[in-house]
Formats: sequence, C-alpha cells, structure tokens
Amino acid sequence: MDTTLTQPSSGTPLSLPPGFRWGVATAAYQIEGAAAEDGRTPSIWDTYSHTPGRVHGDDNGDVACDHYHRMPDDVALIKGLGVDTYRFSISWPRVQPGGSGALNPQGVDFYSRLVDELLANGIDPWVTLYHWDLPQELEDAGGWPARDTAHRFADYAALMFDRLSDRVANWTTLNEPWCSAMLGYAYGHQAPGHQDFPAGIRAVHHLLLGHGLATQRMREAASGLDRPVHLGITLNLGPGHPATDTDEDRDAARRADGLNNRLYLDPLLKGAYPADVVDDLALRHAELPVQEGDLEIISTPIDVLGVNYYTGWLISHVDEDGSSTDSDGALVARSVGRGRPVTAMGWEIVPEVFTELLVRLSREYPGVPLFITENGAAFDDVVAADGSVPDPERQAYLESHIHAVQDAVAQGADVRGYFVWSLLDNFEWSYGYDKRFGIVRVDYKTQERTLKDSAHWLRGQIRVWRESV
Ligand code: NOJ
Repeated sequence: MDTTLTQPSSGTPLSLPPGFRWGVATAAYQIEGAAAEDGRTPSIWDTYSHTPGRVHGDDNGDVACDHYHRMPDDVALIKGLGVDTYRFSISWPRVQPGGSGALNPQGVDFYSRLVDELLANGIDPWVTLYHWDLPQELEDAGGWPARDTAHRFADYAALMFDRLSDRVANWTTLNEPWCSAMLGYAYGHQAPGHQDFPAGIRAVHHLLLGHGLATQRMREAASGLDRPVHLGITLNLGPGHPATDTDEDRDAARRADGLNNRLYLDPLLKGAYPADVVDDLALRHAELPVQEGDLEIISTPIDVLGVNYYTGWLISHVDEDGSSTDSDGALVARSVGRGRPVTAMGWEIVPEVFTELLVRLSREYPGVPLFITENGAAFDDVVAADGSVPDPERQAYLESHIHAVQDAVAQGADVRGYFVWSLLDNFEWSYGYDKRFGIVRVDYKTQERTLKDSAHWLRGQIRVWRESV
C-alpha cells in the first residue's frame, strides 16, 4: 500500500470557518465485498448485479474493494489523508439478515471494530444507515412501495443506534432517497430495477416515512445518552434552470425542481408536500400514500441536512425529437447540456450551481446546518510509468467545488463540512467498476491502493487550512 505523501501543500489557505469538517465517504455494497460471509444475506443489489445485463460488464459487489478484510489498512489510509471524518454505510443484510428480527452478532462486530479503529486513529465515524442495499426478503415482501418497509427500517435503525451510539454521534438515515425510489422503482436503472412510476412515488413516501420513524426512535434513545448526537438525512439535489426563457421551459424547470428537490425538502423541512408537485403527480396517475400523522413524523426535526452534489442541469420542455410529451403521455422535463466540460459520467462541471444550491437551501430552508456528504468526480485515470496516478481533472474538480462551498459560506450558507466521494475507486452501481471516483486508486486484481495526486493535493489543502484557523 502506497501511502507516502509527496506533494507539498501550497497556495492561499481556504477560508472556511474553524470547526469545519473534512471527510471522505464510501458505501457498504460499493467497497466491502464478503457478500456471503459471516451470516450476510443478499440485498437487492446482489440480486440485481447477478442478473445478466443489468450492470456494466456484469460486475457485482461480491469482492469489490475487499474492505471487509482490509478495514484496518483502509482506516490507516484515511488517517494518512488528514481528514477528521469518515462517512460509511452499514449493510442492513449484514447486521440484520433478512431485514427483520435479531441482529447478527458477527455483522455488528465488523462495524463495531470499524468504529473503534476510527476512534483510535482520531477519526469521527459518520454512519449512513441505508445506502441502497435493501434486504432481498423485504423486497420480496413489497420493497419500498410497501408501507411495512418503513417500519422495518425504523426497527433496524433503532437496533444499530443502540449498539453504536455509545461511540457514534453522526447518524444519517437515508442516502439519496430519490435514487432508491425513482431509479429503483420508477425508471429501472438501479436495483430492484422496476419501471413503474406510481410505485416509485409510493416508495418516495415510504422512504421518507422510514426516515421520520427512525429519527424519532433514535432521538428518543439519545435522550438517555450523556452526549449529543446529530441526526439527519442525505439528499441528492439536482438544481435545474430553464434552458430558455419561454414559459414552457420555465414550467419544465419547475416540474423538475419539484420532482427532484422539493418533493423531499418540503415534507422533511416544512412538513408538507408541495401542492404543485402533488398536482403534477396526479396527472401521471401517481399518488403519495399519505396517512394521518405521516407528515408530522416525516418532519421530525433533524440536526443536519446532508447534500450530495455532482452537477446541475438546464431543463427543456421538449425531447430530442421535439415532442413535449413522453411515451407515457407525461410532460417532458429533459436535462440538456450547457456545452461545458464533463466528467467520465458525462456530468457537466458547473461549480457555480453548487454555490447557488447551498445559498438557496440556507435561505429557503433555514435553521438546518448543511454538510456536503458527497462531492467528487469520475475520470479515466491512467497509472504513470513511475506508478503514480496523476489526476489533474479530478483535482481541478475538487478545487473548484471546494471554492464553490467557500463562496456559499461567504454568502451566508451554513455549511459545516465537506466529504469527498470517494475514498476509494469502487463499485459504481450500474456502471460497475468502469467508473473511478476514488482519490485512492484500487487495482482490482491485487487490491493494491495508491493515492492519486488529488489525494496528495487534498491533504495539503487541509493541512494549510488547519494551520490557518
Ligand atoms: C451518489 C451515491 O450516493 C454514490 O453511491 C455514488 O457512487 C455517487 N453518487 C457517484 O455516482
């Protein structure tokens, strides 16, 4: 493992407030491997990735970065980066096989050891309870479109909180519920791979309900602790501007903002679904299955809003073929490019939209501290003859986006931390191992880790900033 840090730090220190947190992030299915070890049962991602044709190259997470067996070395790697926080997720089917009933002591032990290892190295653990790996049994029972899944999730959250809250203060319920619901159930691009728009909308509500129920259970349990906890949720927010100034494009941008952003932000932080989105959904024969009291549960106060940001869109009301309705008769709201450089994901690099998003969140949803729980970029890295991994594009991406956060803070946004996605190259869901987001390269044949130049650079930036505050 090459953890030598060669690049000297340089330049003007970042102007971010004292106490600002720096971290790196991962997720269980993307790095752990050990898919059938120590009592773990399959999740929807095991099933999906083992279904031929679903994932690029038919890749799967059976081995991934083998983090399950290399955890202490990976923690040493994190420490070497000079960050203070590590955001990781717990694999639900590892700790509670089948998604209900008693915990699996071996599975819990892995996370307990990880937490101890982090703390021993001065790194604060930040737990995500659900990063997309629903136990397959719960999917077979109806998955997120079924209300019961929200209750199963709250039980699982309460059990894990009970086991780890003596050492873990930071708890995120869900990672990117838009992806779980819409990519998983409405559009079929991710596990479990259904294409059923109304089912996707039912999943949205039950994910949010699960978040609220879990938050209530953890808050209640936290009252017995002698130290504070920070509870929250992480959203992927896709800011979209109208492609032109026409009424049609403006309305398309409103619809996109509604379905991607406000459908989550408003119930969580204002206690109500946005009326215009509910109307848009009705036109598509989709309904949020709200029962009495649900919105009070969903809007249970949180301490942290996690923001995952990668790109921003321009929204057009017409498809490539010029049509303003899609094959299901729904009004089009299509993202179009600005002609700016893109990452290997094809995502445009628009850091100024990041600043705008953070300022908007602080103004429209005041009172909740923001943490950037993910930001980063995939590029097709090439290993140099001397074994180093020069990744100037990723470094430039990170630099411009960290500056975008700094600009947002200068404009009054309450941003308290920034976590890079990702620590390691890993299983990028439907893209398999083809897309590399790590600031540390993983050679999947040998499992060797090599710090990319962006990792050396980041460490230098953090060090200079720490010396300046
Ligand atoms: C968001 C997801 O949380 C993460 O799992 C994924 O790898 C990154 N985006 C990059 O696509």
